[in-house]
Amino acid sequence: MELVEVKEGKTRFLVPILDENQNFPPAGAPVFFNKKMELNRDTTILMLKCLDAESYLDAMSATGVRGIRVYNECGIKATVNDKSADAIPLLEYNKDTYAPDIEITNLDANVIMNERRFDAVDIDPFGTPAPFMDAAAGCAKKYLFITATDTAPLCGSHLKAGMRRYFARPLNNEYHSEMGLRILLGFAVREIVKYDRGVEPLFSFAREHFVRIYLKLSYGAGKADKAMENIGYIHQCKKCPYRTEQKGLLAETIVCEECGAPMHVAGPLWLGPVSKKEIIDGMLAKIPESELGTQAKIEKMLNICREELDSSTFYDYHVLSRYWKVSPVAVDTVIQRLKEKGYSASRVHYAGTGIKTDAPLNEIRMALT
Ligand SMILES: C[S@@+](CC[C@H](N)C(=O)[O-])C[C@H]1O[C@@H](n2cnc3c(N)ncnc32)[C@H](O)[C@@H]1O
Ligand SMILES: [Zn+2]
Repeated sequence: MELVEVKEGKTRFLVPILDENQNFPPAGAPVFFNKKMELNRDTTILMLKCLDAESYLDAMSATGVRGIRVYNECGIKATVNDKSADAIPLLEYNKDTYAPDIEITNLDANVIMNERRFDAVDIDPFGTPAPFMDAAAGCAKKYLFITATDTAPLCGSHLKAGMRRYFARPLNNEYHSEMGLRILLGFAVREIVKYDRGVEPLFSFAREHFVRIYLKLSYGAGKADKAMENIGYIHQCKKCPYRTEQKGLLAETIVCEECGAPMHVAGPLWLGPVSKKEIIDGMLAKIPESELGTQAKIEKMLNICREELDSSTFYDYHVLSRYWKVSPVAVDTVIQRLKEKGYSASRVHYAGTGIKTDAPLNEIRMALT
């Protein structure tokens, strides 16, 4: 395995040399490293700088990059774990050279998460985090961070796999990226509340081929019940752009308020806010001191997430224009017009052509042209 030193944020570490011809480093490589996940890791640094965690478990660490960065850039006691024996020599080297105080463990993530507790726990698996969520729900004292790269099952394009993993039914339409994020949040909440623990999303985003969620966990049946109040369904008209939210564990049968057609149902999923503005503000404030390689991209994304409305779906401006057979004005103009009429309206981080608004469809239609 040929190695090269790289730098992310303020941290140096060794990684296997990547084959430039491959879009994604193969999961079968001796130790995994994906440069394209730097932005994901950078958000972890910004997040932990805003929280009060004193210990951090990088449960699936590969090169150890997350734990090493967290130790080095956030001053938090880090444990880096990987099940693969192949990962250990490189982890030892990176520890000795760059982060002497980190702890290395060579366990199945579910074993270490069942045996020990950490303030913050990070799960960054190949594909789905579903098999690790139960142990993580007990292991994380305060915070749980999860990456999922199985966006096809989450978003409905591999429907059966998604239903098996998340026990929910997504809808593969123009807002499937947000649907996937909310299915993952809904699943995480179900795995956590069964232990009488509360959950609150601090910051969540979907980008390229992954979903990342940052959760704050608390203790108490009352807190768990409060989290459950945000579980429910999205009903999407089969004929027109109308959609609505319905809270509760049982999906009701309703028809479209606009056109009377039957509705598709998606869920159960998380209907509450996916991020907290105060946290995003805190993350933005930490950017200047953090020397992040993805600074410009993160800043742009966080600013959009900060403004994004909490409603659980967005409209795609091109889909609406095709449906009404109109040629639309610019997205920002549509948003501006809706705001001038007194409605809430925002862009979304999921898609450049996405719009969230509480305006009824006829108002959106008027604002489009
Ligand atoms: C996507 S990589 C982690 C990447 C790393 N966190 C980063 O940011 O570069 C997933 C890692 O999980 C490890 N892994 C897979 N199954 C595991 C399990 N059950 N327990 C612990 N580690 C596991 C693999 O060996 C691999 O190194
Ligand atoms: Zn309809």
